[in-house]
Amino acid sequence: MSENALYTDLSAYYDLMCADINYQSQSEGVRRIHQVFGNQGMSHLDLACGTGPHLRHFLEYGYQCQGLDLNQPMLDQAQIRCPEAQFTLQNMCEFEINETVDLVTCFLYSVHYSGDLAPLDSCFAAVAKALKSGGVFCFNAVDKDHIDNTLSVSHSAVSQGSQFDFSSSWYYQGHGNQQALRLSIRKTTGDKVEYWHDSHPMVAVSFAQLQALLAPYFQVTVLEHDYDTLQPWNETSGNALFVCVKP
Ligand SMILES: C[S@@+](CC[C@H](N)C(=O)[O-])C[C@H]1O[C@@H](n2cnc3c(N)ncnc32)[C@H](O)[C@@H]1O
Repeated sequence: MSENALYTDLSAYYDLMCADINYQSQSEGVRRIHQVFGNQGMSHLDLACGTGPHLRHFLEYGYQCQGLDLNQPMLDQAQIRCPEAQFTLQNMCEFEINETVDLVTCFLYSVHYSGDLAPLDSCFAAVAKALKSGGVFCFNAVDKDHIDNTLSVSHSAVSQGSQFDFSSSWYYQGHGNQQALRLSIRKTTGDKVEYWHDSHPMVAVSFAQLQALLAPYFQVTVLEHDYDTLQPWNETSGNALFVCVKP
């Protein structure tokens, strides 16, 4: 199954898959980051917005929001959730918007969907072009050299008479610029059990590489991957929040 097909087929289940994610805490953390590092403007673009859970929070904070995603069924759901926001079907590695914005976000490690280093660089260039001076780009990322292939995250949910068991993990073979996001879903309805397995190719990058890629476009601050405490990165954690200010 291709990367896009998974989200097309599962767009109806996507929010169930993400039911244990604290979107409010993530959105609140990035709002605070924007207040501290930003230019006080209130226009916002969310890259790879999916079904728009973060956008809903930023709209409540008073931002004028836009969302961008590669997948139309996800955008359809986002438009229902966020009728006040604008949505465009675009690739975040080569997107354009009509007017520059004050805040660009990319949540849930979605910058890794760029796939390789050159498109990741194009994504950063497009973000820099889309931001006003003093605007902030905030995203989270994983360092390829800190991926533990034995770890996975699992949770279960019940919906419309079916039980869903979700599992996700990173896999990095130890060299090169590619890692995989492995997703598996088991849907149990009575005696019937259905499975989805998918492995998304993603760009693998170390934090040193990431900082080098960002440096031509932004002033970069790295924070610990904790949306509640917003502490400086301890230089060893394998997950982090990147706060990038356009000069
Ligand atoms: C893990 S989901 C995250 C969705 C949302 N940000 C969230 O936190 O729930 C990844 C999203 O990235 C989108 N995506 C993947 N590659 C993309 C690309 N090159 N440009 C734009 N969106 C992309 C997928 O369609 C999907 O909606």
